[in-house]
Amino acid sequence: MKRNILITGGAGFIGSHVVRLFVSKYPEYNIVNLDKLTYAGNLANLKDIENSPNYTFIKADIADFGLMRRIMTDKKIDGIIHLAAESHVDRSIKDPFTFARTNVMGTLALLQAAREYWESLPEGYNGKLFYHISTDEVYGALDITHPDGTQAPFTTKASAGDHMAFGTEFFVETTSYSPHSPYSASKASGDHFVRAYHDTYGMPSIVTNCSNNYGPYQFPEKLIPLFINNILHRKPLPVYGRGENVRDWLYVEDHARAIDLIFHKGTIAETYNIGGFNEWKNIDLIKILIKTVDRLTGYNEGHSDNLITYITDRPGHDMRYAIDSRKLQHELGWEPSLQFEEGIERTVKWYLDNQDWMDNVTSGEYEHYYDNMYRGR
Ligand code: NAD
Ligand code: DAU
Repeated sequence: MKRNILITGGAGFIGSHVVRLFVSKYPEYNIVNLDKLTYAGNLANLKDIENSPNYTFIKADIADFGLMRRIMTDKKIDGIIHLAAESHVDRSIKDPFTFARTNVMGTLALLQAAREYWESLPEGYNGKLFYHISTDEVYGALDITHPDGTQAPFTTKASAGDHMAFGTEFFVETTSYSPHSPYSASKASGDHFVRAYHDTYGMPSIVTNCSNNYGPYQFPEKLIPLFINNILHRKPLPVYGRGENVRDWLYVEDHARAIDLIFHKGTIAETYNIGGFNEWKNIDLIKILIKTVDRLTGYNEGHSDNLITYITDRPGHDMRYAIDSRKLQHELGWEPSLQFEEGIERTVKWYLDNQDWMDNVTSGEYEHYYDNMYRGR
């Protein structure tokens, strides 16, 4: 079936994987990638598909309501996958306004533009979908100690079923929102607007909340690519606090596969959690990362351990995230395809093979940001 799909934020990390998947898997769809190209947006992420006949790029700001209205009509958009966002917690602590502008007002502008266009059509909302990509951070933070005294991480190296023993110790789709950072507060607000547009105007929408992604093309302000780059350049590895915070890691292509499945088979007005059943304490993950980089660059184990530098904790640093994605597994049959060790190996190899990409994005504006943030700590 022919469709015109708008993917926002398609020049970013996750968005570029989603655009690549849709452009190559669905030649019958027109894929419109709309991105403002902030510091995090990079068209080099899409070099391999940029000349595909079913692909168009538009440089635009989602908060520009007039432009969003025009694009909806001109491109006859019938499906939206909304990933565009300011995405880095540390930046949100320094500059919350930009996060509110894009993640709240931008999402609202897109919703309203979609509403006006779809309501103007004879078939109305029939066959339309506004799919909003959100994060597990909106749920707040989980404890690292289970009531029975067991310490997180609970699912590291465990089989996917073992987590069930811990029941409510994971984020489920009905967990109340409790955001702690300006980033997660802005994402939570965007999520509420999407649900409000469904409840108030009947806008067909789906929201998914995913855990930490990793893999190729991630901007090196996020833990994994930042640390790979710093190891290669013999720079300190800034571990916040004591490195005991826990995150649940998912390989980015598994997230893109989940988005494809949910876009096509998900139930309108539902929320789906997406996660890796793969919790790691930061410091344990960092040690695996160091070992992998050292091995793949021909150094002995332990060569880069001395780069670990404990620094002042991130304000409001959430202790633990862990997603229960059994709903998605049971209803749509999705589960992560990669073991973490394999995902990390693949990721490190990609950054080693693509050092030009890394050098390009770490020059200029980003360097200043990095220096301001960490110098003097
Ligand atoms: P990213 O920062 O790598 O990319 C964001 C993209 O959005 C960039 O290309 C940027 O240019 C674009 N953008 C920013 N502001 C814009 C605006 N006003 N108008 C148009 N485009 C704009 O982010 P990411 O890590 O790929 O995350 C993508 C989405 O997934 C976000 O909504 C994020 O909240 C969500 N998410 C991310 C993770 C993760 O681990 N990275 C996990 C769960 C959910
Ligand atoms: O959980 C999903 C979220 O994951 C997404 O919504 C966000 O967009 C994404 O940025 C990510 O948020 P985190 O804050 O968890 O990711 P980050 O890579 O910034 O940090 C991961 C952990 O590592 C976190 O506990 C903070 C810590 N950290 C991070 C950096 C950048 C460090 O100790 N040192 C660092 O230099």
